[in-house]
Amino acid sequence: MRFKEQIVVVTGAGSGIGRAAAELIASEGGQVVVNDIDPARVDAVVERIRSQGGQAFPLAADVSDEVAVRSGVDAIIDRHGRVDVLVNNAGIMMRASGHALSSEQWRRAMAVNLDSVFFWCHAVATRSMLPRRQGVIGNVASLAGMVAIPNGAAYVASKHAVVGLTKALALDWGPYNIRINALCPGMTWTDLSTADREKNPEMFVERERRIPLGHAAEPIEQAEAIAFLASAQSSAVHGLIMNVDGGNLAMHSGTTLTPPPPLA
Ligand SMILES: NC(=O)c1ccc[n+]([C@@H]2O[C@H](COP(=O)([O-])OP(=O)(O)OC[C@H]3O[C@@H](n4cnc5c(N)ncnc54)[C@H](O)[C@@H]3O)[C@@H](O)[C@H]2O)c1
Repeated sequence: MRFKEQIVVVTGAGSGIGRAAAELIASEGGQVVVNDIDPARVDAVVERIRSQGGQAFPLAADVSDEVAVRSGVDAIIDRHGRVDVLVNNAGIMMRASGHALSSEQWRRAMAVNLDSVFFWCHAVATRSMLPRRQGVIGNVASLAGMVAIPNGAAYVASKHAVVGLTKALALDWGPYNIRINALCPGMTWTDLSTADREKNPEMFVERERRIPLGHAAEPIEQAEAIAFLASAQSSAVHGLIMNVDGGNLAMHSGTTLTPPPPLA
């Protein structure tokens, strides 16, 4: 029971990695505030957690809306008194080659993937974590926060910025006993990646071929890493950018994986 009696916020928890993280943390005693922009998804996840004996509370809101984030955090503090763990997971893919990218697409990707992380971190830190000198934050970036993907200028820029923001806040808030780390998932089977695969099928076949463990991850595998970073098990881990990618980024970009030789 790593999260017994802890107040945990998970953004974008209506699907995929966020839903898996919310359910896992709730199964280990966390009182989980389930955020998503889609109220029906929020209600479904809250219902599922409660039906399994866990504690969950709905917070339907757009994470890129600063006013909504601040009032959401106020409501959480009024109800629960504090936030112990914040998981900034909400994110959107944005595919367009640099020259085809509209200003609206650029701003939306930045707003949802980056601004939201700052809004949530700032609101939760100033309202709860800094005064209490205690808290843990996990930001979900991406392998695209470490290296670029084609036709991904806005997504790549936003995720690189999440990595940079995580490092900067680790320096600012470590002295106040607030731990902050980022997770960089590799290819993981969720709504986001399956929708993207439909538009770029060849690229996904090639990408999966370049994963030394041989397969894309399941949401629960990312959730396990989020739970580790969010729990006291990682009490000395701070400012870490953690790839969970089946070894994808360990491989030199100029090489290909060959079938392994038979073992004697
Ligand atoms: N799936 C992958 O292969 C992969 C790889 C690297 C990084 N990621 C990152 O993991 C995170 C989760 O992605 P996923 O794959 O689970 O996607 P997903 O689409 O399955 O889930 C994302 C959830 O976020 C919600 N959301 C979108 N915009 C929102 C907003 N403005 N406010 C609140 N909620 C919003 C969606 O409604 C959805 O329920 C994202 O930050 C994504 O960039 C995913």
